[in-house]
Amino acid sequence: MIVLGIETSCDETAAAVVDADRRILSNIVLSQLEAHAPYGGVVPEIAARAHVEAVDDVVAQAMYEAGAKFTDLSCIAATGGPGLIGGVIVGVMTAKAIALAEAKPFVAVNHLEAHALTARLSGTESGEVVAFPYLLLLVSGGHCQLLIVEGVGSYRRIGTTVDDALGEAFDKSAKLMGLGYPGGPKVEAWAQNGDDRRFPLPRPMRGRAGCEFSFSGLKTKVRQTLEELPSGPFTDSDIADLCASFQRAVGDVLEDRCTNAIAMFQAQCPGVGALVVAGGVAANAYLRDRLTVLAAAHGLRFHAPPIYLCTDNGAMVAWAGLEKFQQRGADNLAFKPRPRWPLDPNAPPAVFAGVKA
Ligand code: KG4
Ligand code: ZN
Repeated sequence: MIVLGIETSCDETAAAVVDADRRILSNIVLSQLEAHAPYGGVVPEIAARAHVEAVDDVVAQAMYEAGAKFTDLSCIAATGGPGLIGGVIVGVMTAKAIALAEAKPFVAVNHLEAHALTARLSGTESGEVVAFPYLLLLVSGGHCQLLIVEGVGSYRRIGTTVDDALGEAFDKSAKLMGLGYPGGPKVEAWAQNGDDRRFPLPRPMRGRAGCEFSFSGLKTKVRQTLEELPSGPFTDSDIADLCASFQRAVGDVLEDRCTNAIAMFQAQCPGVGALVVAGGVAANAYLRDRLTVLAAAHGLRFHAPPIYLCTDNGAMVAWAGLEKFQQRGADNLAFKPRPRWPLDPNAPPAVFAGVKA
């Protein structure tokens, strides 16, 4: 069984082919970074147009590298949301067109579910599939959530952000420091040479009950800290120290919020499971190390996908499409792309969170 997955929900045009033995036969990711760089963030209309121009070639290259023909595919999966709707439409229409022309099933994949199931594709250190249930910290540019993953299509959200997503906090703080977009990798690189105790930054939500997050106050404090520095260009050590202090504050917050989540998870699912991290921010080595230590302290295994599977890619979409297809079959070609698509539609909205929850 082999599946083609197409990802176009943000600023990567990506396609990949995976098989049911969890082998990634190809994984093509075309970043639009240069197109968006002058604007300091992703411009939805530019993204949609760039996806239209690139998607055919990216799919063709993924099929070529996998040594597969459309007739070999068991189904065609595409991110159906949530995301920038212009881009999502491009991927969904491409997948539907291939499905229709080749008389193959079409599967619409929730982008968050694709991140959530990636650890099952990459597997444990000994190469086994990560078993359900597990506790998932999903940290990306658009989301920051804690979920109990009970199975394919079955997610219980136990915490979310009431304001910014974590990746957004990295990106906005980096922008304030003049580091460019995307900020996460830049902050991580600068932090390596910094003093993480120089700037006292807040740890929003630390010590509170529950598993909600908040990051806008942290970003504001980064701005205030920069304003208080001597006028003139920032020195390299100012930037390195601020990045390191920011990253440490984030690590402290994640540790605190995940400690509460682990207690809830272990009460509901005693004696089983692992802590899994997913989404673009999961590429951060410092945060991965902090979470590894935390999981061990609570007797949980820890799994993080390899870095190239943390940021957006087609392999995670193909894999989630494969798992979904195996369990629930195909989606109707009348599927409508969804700008919003919560993993847990029954979760109560977080107070003040607005549409982000
Ligand atoms: O999952 P992703 O590729 O796209 C979304 O679905 O949002 O996540 C992108 C986010 C960006 O905010 C980026 O700054 C952040 O992930 N990111 C990182 C790192 N690499 C990417 N944040 C912290 N450290 C990193 N190494
Ligand atoms: Zn993503």
